[in-house]
Amino acid sequence: MKRSKITIIGAGNVGATVAHWTAAAELGDVILLDIPQTETMPAGKALDLFEASPVFGFDASITGTTDYADTVASDVVVITAGIPRKPGMSRDDLLATNAKIVGSVAEQVAKTSPDAVLIIVSNPLDAMVQRALQVSGFPRERVIGQAGVLDTARFKAFIAAELNVSIEDVSAMLLGGHGDTMVPLLSCAAVGGIPVSQLIPKDRLDEIVQRTRDGGAEIVKLLKTGSAYYAPAAATAQMVEAVVKDKRRLIPCAVLCEKEYNVGGYCVGVPVVLGTGGVQKIVEIPLNAEEEQGFRKSVDAVKGLVEMMSGIV
Ligand code: NAI
Ligand code: 2OP
Repeated sequence: MKRSKITIIGAGNVGATVAHWTAAAELGDVILLDIPQTETMPAGKALDLFEASPVFGFDASITGTTDYADTVASDVVVITAGIPRKPGMSRDDLLATNAKIVGSVAEQVAKTSPDAVLIIVSNPLDAMVQRALQVSGFPRERVIGQAGVLDTARFKAFIAAELNVSIEDVSAMLLGGHGDTMVPLLSCAAVGGIPVSQLIPKDRLDEIVQRTRDGGAEIVKLLKTGSAYYAPAAATAQMVEAVVKDKRRLIPCAVLCEKEYNVGGYCVGVPVVLGTGGVQKIVEIPLNAEEEQGFRKSVDAVKGLVEMMSGIV
């Protein structure tokens, strides 16, 4: 069977860690690309990772480059290029710089890998998906943002720790933008099929929801020099796997929503079925009044960012 060709743009913390887990899971051959100023850095990280393959026993070609010619006809392109947050910065503070970076990357990718599925990671996430969609001209199914898988992973990890149970038994769903207004859906959170509201008191659940919303900032505060990358990369690798193996995972991803959830043309996190070709379906579920109100607030925050971005790029 022919291996998938997976290009990761941005060989920094998130990009290199996505390469690690993607290669270790034998999802395909991996190419790490960064800007020419980084010279041989991507090649160095790629070779180092390749030299780990006999230890773990995975078969994958892993190469590093600064030249898009090496990425031609990729099946999946992950975009992590951009600057991360430092303490005191919000994801939105990254808007102007990253909109230009993601725009130029999407332009190159559209020329070199016109049939690829794009998975966007750069922040502020929802606005960057919108930017990549505009510039690439790809259909919405093939321009997808990673945020919800990370945010639900944090939510699930905190629930499992609270109840001292296996993370394997926790399931959750989340809507909205990747920001302080994200909406973890308590109505969809369960442990072993039991609604979480029957297991954890309301005031404690509210604290867990707030910790999930602040999950990125909590790591930034601890790291002091950058933002999270292990969990974000794991979440991204799960999306790559869904696409290259046609897993048809029902997971939250950021995608352009038109009539769906009455969003009207913005990229926000919603439940989707992810498999070959990208988003195969946007799954619409009824929301209770509190969830609906939270979702509208989150969509408004994304709209504000997209409008701000249109004045910049
Ligand atoms: P990093 O600084 O470690 O790596 C970024 C890399 O992008 C650098 O190596 C840089 O040289 C490269 N880069 C910059 N401009 C480029 C261009 N035009 N073409 C190719 N490469 C370029 O940052 P890190 O921690 O890897 O984060 C990357 C981005 O991902 C940030 O915007 C961060 O906020 C975002 N992020 C998003 C998450 C999510 O859940 N959506 C989670 C974690 C990070
Ligand atoms: C996070 O949530 C920075 O968006 C990144 O950790």
